[in-house]
Amino acid sequence: MKITNSESNTSIAEIGDGIYRISTPVPPNPALPPGFTFNQFLIVDDEPLLFHTGPRKMFPLVREAIETVIPASTLRYLGISHFEADECGALNEFLALAPRAVPLCGAVGKMVSVDDVADREARGLGDGEQLSLGTHTVGWVDTPHLPHGWDCGYLFESTTSTLFCGDLFTQPGAEHPALTEGDILGPSEAMRSAMDYFAHARNTDQLLAKLAAKHPTTLACMHGASWNGNGSELLGQLAEVLGK
Ligand SMILES: [Fe+2]
Ligand SMILES: [Fe+2]
Repeated sequence: MKITNSESNTSIAEIGDGIYRISTPVPPNPALPPGFTFNQFLIVDDEPLLFHTGPRKMFPLVREAIETVIPASTLRYLGISHFEADECGALNEFLALAPRAVPLCGAVGKMVSVDDVADREARGLGDGEQLSLGTHTVGWVDTPHLPHGWDCGYLFESTTSTLFCGDLFTQPGAEHPALTEGDILGPSEAMRSAMDYFAHARNTDQLLAKLAAKHPTTLACMHGASWNGNGSELLGQLAEVLGK
């Protein structure tokens, strides 16, 4: 489904049961010659969750995409992997729009950034803490500095085995399918060789193994296509190339 908007080609597609990927392409430009995408994920349930708000300047586009599925005012949780503009730039705009919404992040994110910046107090999840949304259940996984940010962590949705893996497997380019079974590690490594966004912390291997132990079958990537397949294996391959 494409949203008709003269300034963008924001699209929304269901990539799992009740899980929607919203994607806004940024055309090739001097800063990022191949172009780029910013993706957000909507879990439609009794307590609807939006994983990442997108940058503040994309707020109208993301809101419009959500509205094609549910009223954006019914959002309950605004999930944040780590504190950066593309993860949560439009946080206060969404909090103003959705009266029951609260930011949802890790305990570190709540402490160091979100509770100061956000207009409503965050729900901070501890490592491994589960949260029921109705039919879906998300659990928080602490992954400090993977790929960057002390506060970094991810949500794993257990009924669909979807890992909302944020900046992991960031692929360049403005044109991507919503969901692929093709290679995303090659493109994301090409991106990393040009712009290394990883902190390369000492426990990277252990954190990737912790994510692999969830056995995700869908990787919901924030930049590029989402991926379907054996997620444990792919996370293992990422650990291997990072270790070289
Ligand atoms: Fe980031
Ligand atoms: Fe990002």
